[in-house]
Amino acid sequence: SQEITNVSRLLETHNKLGAFNELCEKKKVRDAEKELIEKRINEFRSAMNCILNFLDEKPTEEAVRVFKLDGDFNWKRMFKLIMRERHRLDDGLPIYAYRQDILLQILYQQVVVLIGETGSGKSTQLVQFLADSGVGANESIICTQPRKIAAISLADRVGDESSDCYEDGSVKCFSTYSSSHQFNSKIIYMTDYCLLQHYMSDKNMSGISCIIIDEAHERSLNTDLLLALLKSLLCQKLDLRLIIMSATANAIQLSDYFFKCGIFHVVGRNFPVDVRYVPYLAEGPSDSAVVPSYVSDMEVEWACAMFEAPSAVALALHGKLSSEEQFRVFQNHPGKRKVIFATNLAETSLTIPGVKYVIDSGMVKESKFDPSSGMNILKVCWISQSSADQRAGRAGRTEPGRCYRLYTESDYKSMVPNQEPEIRRVHLGVAVLRILALGIKNVQDFDFVDAPSPRSVEMAIRNLIQLGAVELNNNIYELTEEGRYLVKLGIEPRIGKLVISCYNACLGKEGVVLAAVMANASNIFCRVGSDGDKVKSDCLKVQFCHCNGDLFTLLSVYKEWEALPRERKNKWCWENSINAKSMRRCQDTILELENCLKYELNFIIPSYWAWNPHKYTEHDKSLKKVILSSLAENVAMYSGYDRLGYEVALTGQHVQLHPSSSLLIFGKKPNWVVFGELLSISSQYLVCVTAFDIESLFTLRPPPLFDVSKLESKKLQRRVLSGFGCTLLKRFCGKSNSNLLGLVSRV
Ligand code: CDP
Repeated sequence: SQEITNVSRLLETHNKLGAFNELCEKKKVRDAEKELIEKRINEFRSAMNCILNFLDEKPTEEAVRVFKLDGDFNWKRMFKLIMRERHRLDDGLPIYAYRQDILLQILYQQVVVLIGETGSGKSTQLVQFLADSGVGANESIICTQPRKIAAISLADRVGDESSDCYEDGSVKCFSTYSSSHQFNSKIIYMTDYCLLQHYMSDKNMSGISCIIIDEAHERSLNTDLLLALLKSLLCQKLDLRLIIMSATANAIQLSDYFFKCGIFHVVGRNFPVDVRYVPYLAEGPSDSAVVPSYVSDMEVEWACAMFEAPSAVALALHGKLSSEEQFRVFQNHPGKRKVIFATNLAETSLTIPGVKYVIDSGMVKESKFDPSSGMNILKVCWISQSSADQRAGRAGRTEPGRCYRLYTESDYKSMVPNQEPEIRRVHLGVAVLRILALGIKNVQDFDFVDAPSPRSVEMAIRNLIQLGAVELNNNIYELTEEGRYLVKLGIEPRIGKLVISCYNACLGKEGVVLAAVMANASNIFCRVGSDGDKVKSDCLKVQFCHCNGDLFTLLSVYKEWEALPRERKNKWCWENSINAKSMRRCQDTILELENCLKYELNFIIPSYWAWNPHKYTEHDKSLKKVILSSLAENVAMYSGYDRLGYEVALTGQHVQLHPSSSLLIFGKKPNWVVFGELLSISSQYLVCVTAFDIESLFTLRPPPLFDVSKLESKKLQRRVLSGFGCTLLKRFCGKSNSNLLGLVSRV
């Protein structure tokens, strides 16, 4: 430590020397001073050797190159390297003790699964170990993250730690995909989605020596697709290295999948986290600044708005915020304590300075695809043990912390160990489109870590056929032109279809606005506070309610908001009980979509509106048709009885219109509706509902799958069958839907 103190003193001198050097060059310093400077520089050089001896390590190739004390010696870089080593010693991150062993493992094996507690230093240090060790000389080291905010903040952190340590462009972050990204930096953090898009344009991953898949326990769809694709690439590219990293992943399953590769454990964490179970509020934390976390975007916003404590500042953190809004949680708020209300966006990878307490509700609101009904259902459910551990890990990043769990220890023990992989939870349309675009014909045989059930793959393909994105040619599924467009858009296929169909139907900007308001639908109308406040909000909503349904209502809100001058927007939102932030978010989504359409598909979205909420025109019809054709699997019919509500055409399930639906204020319930989502809370509700005429149903090509036998009235069954034309239905059903064919013939 004496050497370190000496070195740091010398470093300070060195800083001053920098200034002297400049003066020398300007010939303003006498020779005697020059001599002094040179003497100091020599002292500095020998001190450098001391520190290397002290660290008891052979200098890495990189270090030897840098410390070659001649020619154009890079003082600044040397300074940074020393400072980084000093920080490492100060931080004492557990992973440092394993540096040599990890590097050896990676040298000898193509794939390694690295498991280490949160805070052990995996995400920030491994990339630097690899870069320092000279892996893949001029190639990039990629580290993927499931979320943008994590990728950006890690790149910032590692950039700070190692700035100027590497010659080629140091540390970068690609948070959104662009085909113009240059892989010429030593370390690149990116979202797994970005890397997947990159793979599609360069299947050999040229210029990349090493790929680290971080937070592998989340098993996002993109991660799973990447793992499967990398598995086959590894066999062709023998010098490529893959490291799969997590605190809580199922290491054995991943190792088995990757040819039984080695599993490496990093033991220990930076700071301890004291976990307490407080299922009842009475036993809860007495500290007034500690507030339970909430589970959905809207609740986060609501909690922030309701939170009052003069000594604290309440901040929201969820996926619908812009990057700038999200980054507010990283800022200091001098003299104030930060209270952050977050969704599971904050669950992994993040280090938020100063967070000492985490309050874990134990819940998550998740969209889950239900293969039996074929719908995406939003549900509040228990998290997994792995998520609970990750949440606790957010405390204790920069100092010892504490986690309050609003459930009992036995609740924790009864949680599933790991969350279900996304591929098992979501509509597979996006995955199937991507797999087909990758040129893989046999989707059913794609080698996933966890293969989705054949039934959900079948339903995804059926939905894509319905959307006109995929067709069956000679028993091989192929993307249509529309399908290729949808892949490029990379959003949920039915929303992509909505946008593209509006464009093709020569409507104005309605398509992109619909996509944006659908993504924010549950947050646009404010409905919080006392019962009286809620009634007031409901009354204010009536002025926007459109007889065609919720999507048209949302369109008219956006249209009116957009037309206002910027300075009046907030006041208008306040007066009409509209969430101003959601409106701005819609605007951002629209911009993002417009850019994507422009650059990926060459579609220029018009800036005008074709549709007018106050006048019935042909555009109402075209819009309804577009909505129906994009959501055609979600058709429901009124049963004629309030108690029974609507019947979902595909499954015969009885559901109700959501109480917030604008259709409810128009008295008579429409006979036919198409809905965006089935919301399952106390009962099952239809949300984002649009009314349509039965005639438009029959114009759909291909016709939607329809379990006619579920329609109670025989008359209606006949009407529907004749409307579709049985032959069409038969052709569409094909051999894989013999059950439906049977139903048709029985009818
Ligand atoms: O990936 P893992 O959870 O193992 O750790 P990491 O993200 O590499 O972070 C290790 C430690 O670095 C954290 O516990 C923090 O002390 C520090 N860190 C930080 O202060 N700021 C960041 N943006 C990232 C990490």
